[in-house]
Amino acid sequence: MTTILEKTRSLFADLGVSTDREIQELFRQLIELADTEHKKVITDPEREEFRVRWLGRNDSIRARVKRNWLENAPKEMRRWVGSSFNYFSEHIETGYSYIKFAAEILEADRPEDLSLPGVLRPVGSHHLIRQVFQEIEDIFFSIGFSVVEGPEIETPYYNFEALNIPEFHPVRDDMDTFYLELPKGAPTPLLLRTHTSPMQIRTMEKQKPPVRVIVPGKVYRRDNPDATHSFAFHQIEGLAVDTDITFCDFTGTIEYFVQQFFGPTVKTRFRPSYFPFTEPSVEFDVSCPFCGGTGASNGGTCSKCKGAAWIELFGAGMVDPAVYGFVNYDAKKVSGFAFGIGIDRMAMLKYGIDDIQVFFQNDVRFLRQFP
Ligand code: DAH
Repeated sequence: MTTILEKTRSLFADLGVSTDREIQELFRQLIELADTEHKKVITDPEREEFRVRWLGRNDSIRARVKRNWLENAPKEMRRWVGSSFNYFSEHIETGYSYIKFAAEILEADRPEDLSLPGVLRPVGSHHLIRQVFQEIEDIFFSIGFSVVEGPEIETPYYNFEALNIPEFHPVRDDMDTFYLELPKGAPTPLLLRTHTSPMQIRTMEKQKPPVRVIVPGKVYRRDNPDATHSFAFHQIEGLAVDTDITFCDFTGTIEYFVQQFFGPTVKTRFRPSYFPFTEPSVEFDVSCPFCGGTGASNGGTCSKCKGAAWIELFGAGMVDPAVYGFVNYDAKKVSGFAFGIGIDRMAMLKYGIDDIQVFFQNDVRFLRQFP
């Protein structure tokens, strides 16, 4: 006996089918077969197989029935065949959409597989410069300094003049910087600050003594990049002003900081130096933390201090009375000290880094060493 499937390969004329009833019977058998198969569909591949077999565009049962039974039916039969065909077609489509819907619900309901390995999301960390900022801020915070921040775009007044650096003062040559292009008639030129010292002025303008602040921030100079120079780098400015601050408070504070930062065994020393905004001015050195201040290492010369036993750290001094004049402090009543620590240099010293450029290259092989 020819199965209903085989019959779909023949035309009605060959099957000897001519009445409406016979046609309906053929479609009924076909639907019965589809329903039987439909009930057996369980897995995703089975569902796809069902769709291709029954509803696929070219070679499916529906495509064949359409071609052989509908399109090749004698003209007078086409109307009945058409309505049976539509019924058959919709029935299978609905059946298919049910199993698809059921699969979607199952998918959404499927419990998570707790045995799967977890997704590892990379966790970022603070850049070494940020970490060193934090270390230094913590130390000064613990002895009563507060943290303030200021603008990276400054006026020459704050960056130079109010710090006792008039226009043709030679130290301006050491602080060549970037000027902003401004429209004609702008009230003042603007530049990228060359140091965090302008915040000494801004802070004292805003508050009466006592002042104890540190100012972390980014600074800029027109320097050519090499292992120790970069056109952008980082500083922490410090300023303490009160009615009774002495040179002793100054050296004691710096010594405390240096020992907290490098360890209790390091020694400090200061040498006379010159800054227009401090008087006297000093340069602080620390006994080399790498060779224990001996200048020697492994029977040779210490490579960090080059045998000098001391490493130059940063500039500082007692605030020059002339500076108080710019902020309406009474130079006869107040005194104070200031310092400017180069963060990049401190980080390089403490963590044995010999090229400042690595801070700015964002190479994760470097960054990952300081999680
Ligand atoms: N501003 C100076 C610089 O960038 C560093 C400095 C020196 C800051 C002495 C100070 C200071 O506050 O007292 O070179």
